[in-house]
Parts: sequence; C-alpha cells; structure tokens
Amino acid sequence: MKNKKYILSVLLLICVLFTSSCSIVVNETVRNTSELKWWQKTIAYEIYVRSFKDSDGDGIGDLNGITSELDHLKELGVGAVWLTPCYVSPQADNGYDIADYYNIDPAYGTMEDMDRLILEARKRDIRIIMDLVFNHTSDENEWFVQSRSSADNDRSDWYIWADPREDGSAPTNWRSIFGGSAWEYDENRGQYYLHTFLPQQPDLNWANPEVRKEVGNVAKFWIDKGVGGFRMDAITYIKKPAVFEDGTPDAEDGMVGIHSMTANTDGILDYLHEFKSSVQEGTDIFTVGEANGVSAEDLDKWVGTDGVFDMVFEFGLVNIDLPDESNWCETRDWTLFEFRSFFQNSLRSSDKVGGWFPVFLENHDQPRSINHFMNGEDDRTAKAGALATLLLTMRGTPFIMQGEELGYVNVDWASIDDYNDISTKNHYEFALGEGYSEEEAMEGVHHFARDSARTPMQWDDTKNAGFTEGTPWLPVYPDYKEFNCTAEKEDPDSVLNCYITLSRLRSEHTELIDGAYKDIMPKNNSIFAYTRTNGNRQATVLINFTSEKVTYDTELIKDAACIFSSSSEEHEGILSPYEAVIYENVYQ
Ligand code: GLC
Repeated sequence: MKNKKYILSVLLLICVLFTSSCSIVVNETVRNTSELKWWQKTIAYEIYVRSFKDSDGDGIGDLNGITSELDHLKELGVGAVWLTPCYVSPQADNGYDIADYYNIDPAYGTMEDMDRLILEARKRDIRIIMDLVFNHTSDENEWFVQSRSSADNDRSDWYIWADPREDGSAPTNWRSIFGGSAWEYDENRGQYYLHTFLPQQPDLNWANPEVRKEVGNVAKFWIDKGVGGFRMDAITYIKKPAVFEDGTPDAEDGMVGIHSMTANTDGILDYLHEFKSSVQEGTDIFTVGEANGVSAEDLDKWVGTDGVFDMVFEFGLVNIDLPDESNWCETRDWTLFEFRSFFQNSLRSSDKVGGWFPVFLENHDQPRSINHFMNGEDDRTAKAGALATLLLTMRGTPFIMQGEELGYVNVDWASIDDYNDISTKNHYEFALGEGYSEEEAMEGVHHFARDSARTPMQWDDTKNAGFTEGTPWLPVYPDYKEFNCTAEKEDPDSVLNCYITLSRLRSEHTELIDGAYKDIMPKNNSIFAYTRTNGNRQATVLINFTSEKVTYDTELIKDAACIFSSSSEEHEGILSPYEAVIYENVYQ
C-alpha cells in the first residue's frame, strides 16, 4: 500500500506540475478595485482562544484574556478577529465539537464576557468573527442526545443515521478524517451514525430543512450580538451523497478516506445559497468558508456576487508538500513556480467573478509557515520577514495566525504522548498501521502536528511567557525568552516590528490593498515578484525565497523609491538571503 500511495503521489505531482507550468506563463493583471468593503480593506487575525491569554489562572486562554490584549491587535492594524469556537463544548476536538451554540464554555468565560469583548473590540474598530461549526455538533449536544434517544422523535432525522449491513458491520468502508471508521454504532437505535471527524462529532443532516433553519437561527443570534462575520468550518462536507456506497480502499485498513466520497457533493451550493439569503442579506458581515476540496478552478462558483461566501480558504497552497492529507509520512518537494501558481490561480479564478481572496500561510490546523514553506529554522527572522511581506502585500485579506507575527516555529516534542491534538495522535497510529517506522511516523508529526500552531502565546519573558499564572494546558515553547511580544516590540529588527511596519505601509500606500496584481518575474524560481497598481501608484514587491544572494533587473524599479526592506543592507538590484523589498512609483 505504501507503494500504491507513492505512485499516486507521483501522478499527482505530474498533474500539479502540468497545471502549474501552464499557469506560470499567464501573468495577466488581476484588476484594481476602487470600491471595497470593510473586510476587504482590513487585516484579519486568528485567535486560538485556548492559547491566547489566560485571565483566571486555570491554564486555559479565555475571553477576558483576549479583551485585555486587544491593543496588541490594534497595533497590528487588525480589524477582524476570528475566534476559534468558544461555545459550550466537551472539548473532544478543542471546541470544534459544540454542545450548545447559544452559550459560552465556562472555561472561556461567560456571555457577559463575550458581550464586553465585542464592545471593547468595536471601540478599537475591530469586529469579532465567530467560527460556525455546522457540519457536525458534539455528541453531547441536546440535539444529538434527543436524536439518538429513539428512531422516531422530533430530531431523529437531524443526524445521518443508517442501518448496519447484514453482518452488523458499518454501512460503508469510509474512513473518517481523523482516522478509523466514519460510522459509530449506537446501541439504543441499533443503527450507525456518520461522523466525518471524531465519533464525538456526529454529522448534522442538512437534507432536513429544520436543521438548515436552526443553523440559520444560530447565525442570526450571533449577528444580533454584533459580530462582524463568520468562518464556516468544514463546510464542504455538509451535503452527503444520496446513496451510501463503499469506495475503493486506499490503504491497508481496507477503507477509503471520507473526503473522496462526500466532499462537495452536487447540490451543496443550493444549501449555502439558502443560508446566505436567509442570514446574510441586509447585513455588513462577511463569511469565509473553510473549503477543503474546492480547487482554485472552482472558486468562481463559491465567491463573487453570485457565490455563496465572501471568501473561501482554499487548501492548494498549504497542501503543496502533502499529496495525501491522511498520510503525513509522504511529502514532496515543490518549487517557487508552483507556490506562486497557487496564489495566482486562486486570485484569477475569484477575480473573474468579482470575488475576493483570503491570504493565509498558517492557521490552527497547519504547521508554522517558517518550517512549512521556508525549509527550517535557520535565518528565522529573515524568513519570517519574507513571509510577512507576502502575506501583507498579496492582493486579498491577510489572515495572520496568532504567533505568526512573532515568528513562531514548529514544536518538536520527543514522543507522541507529548502531543495533545487527537488528530495528530491518529495520524501517527495510521502511519504505524501503514508500515512506517516509529521514527518515520514521528517525522511526519514534527512536520505537520496541529499542536505547533496551538502553543500558548508568548507575551513576555516571565513565567509561562505571561500566558498564565497557572499550568498551561499545552507547554509554552522554550524560546519564549527571546521570541515574545514585549521583547520584540523593543527590537526594531524583530518579526513583530516587521509586521507592524508592513501593516502601516498598507494603510499609507493603499495600492497594496486595492491595487491590481501582476506577476512580473513569472519564470524566476528564486524571487516572488509582483506589482500592485492603482491609478498613478504602483508598488513593486520582490521577495527572495532562497538562502543565497540573488540579483534582479533594476529596470523593474526604475525611478521608484524604496519604501520597505526587511534587511538592513539595501542594494538596488540585489536581494540578501530571504530579503523582501517594496518599491513605489507615483506617476504624474
Ligand atoms: C476544521 C477545523 C479543525 C477541526 C475540524 C473538525 O477543519 O479547522 O480544527 O478539527 O474542522 O471540526
């Protein structure tokens, strides 16, 4: 099976190379935009609530902790803060298993704390973005408790129930995204229920209009609270196929990943159009869908005036080195051509329909970008500066993951037992089952574990990096004496100051926000270079993705003023390792 996977990866690589080599020769301009909505002009920031700031000493981040640090976000120029789920939850998947959508989990605070956070954020021109997890709930949600209580109650059809096969086994051979069968047997109903993720996360049945109405009610409840928008979790899985059938096994366990059987089932957009028209119309909120499985080419159906969301997180880029998401042990090398083509394809596809694009290099499910895209931790500050420049000058709304602005890197804990995330543990077990050694399985964990994005925020060099007075739920990364918010604020060459400077530049040189995008060195495999142009203003961005000095043609920056350099050495026509520069022309 390892071999079969290898062949599949090679085939996939050929496809990616083929599409990327086609796209790199196309470098037409993505148009400029004069009328932008508030969320297109701002910078978004993701808070992993559990890890941001603990105000009450229980070792778990909370809402009051966030309120106390809003000025940090203000300084970064952030206008939208995406909170990972903080609703009542047994925390089987750290909150992505919601037991009550209308209340706050006591570990994170109270509804009064949430109201205060929304208000205090608004005073600073920051809107709170809630994470709506509607593909599934917690198995402790009252809706599911009722649904499983009998085959004929008011909510019996709110989840996906199916009878066992004749031999009593699960209805299909689908493997859940977190490993193991996607079906769980329920003694009471004598039936199986479907869970795309953990057994504690039963999937809602969106085919039932009552379910669709209720998720709309949840969204309206939060709009009434004054939130600025929603991130729609795992949204590509909400529609299930009409018939449940076995798929061809893709691993030794005889199962097939559920993603290939249920993602983006025909008709899904109808549900989402209904959601949009009943919830969003007449408001100024924005929605961003987590749309794993939607390719850049398909984005035009999802965003834009006739689309279902304002933006869509598309996964091509973050999976650039991982041909098969369920197998962390098989990675592939990639080139800057391909890396660049993911941005361009998504930009072009969404632009075609007047859609918008969220720019992200990290989130709470992904490795730290320095490890992911920059090949390791040497020259850490320079690499972080290069990535920051890309994030904050690419066309679209940038999403910063907490800690990214401080230059965080992956954790590399020695044993799988040191890790907290359930999906990481499952990936490790899956690898062992596929015949990889413990060492190989751990290597995959070091590259891709979700815990890397979730370690506590490092505020200062005091105990627990100032995150908590108690015992942190996940260990603080040992580099906190050097990489922390207070120390970085004082160091003009820090990663944090690079972010603050870039954020200020965006607001002063607005073509970085609304300007047309054009790739200007489409064949260069070391420098990512583009212009952003609006009216008589043109910014030229050049980012060296290598550890070598590289040269470029100074004609590209003819008569332009240097408005930013991530390195202290400044030479026209030469970029130091990982240096990023921005030049500007203002034409008369
Ligand atoms: C999304 C979330 C992830 C979560 C999963 C199940 O992918 O980003 O953190 O585990 O959905 O809800």
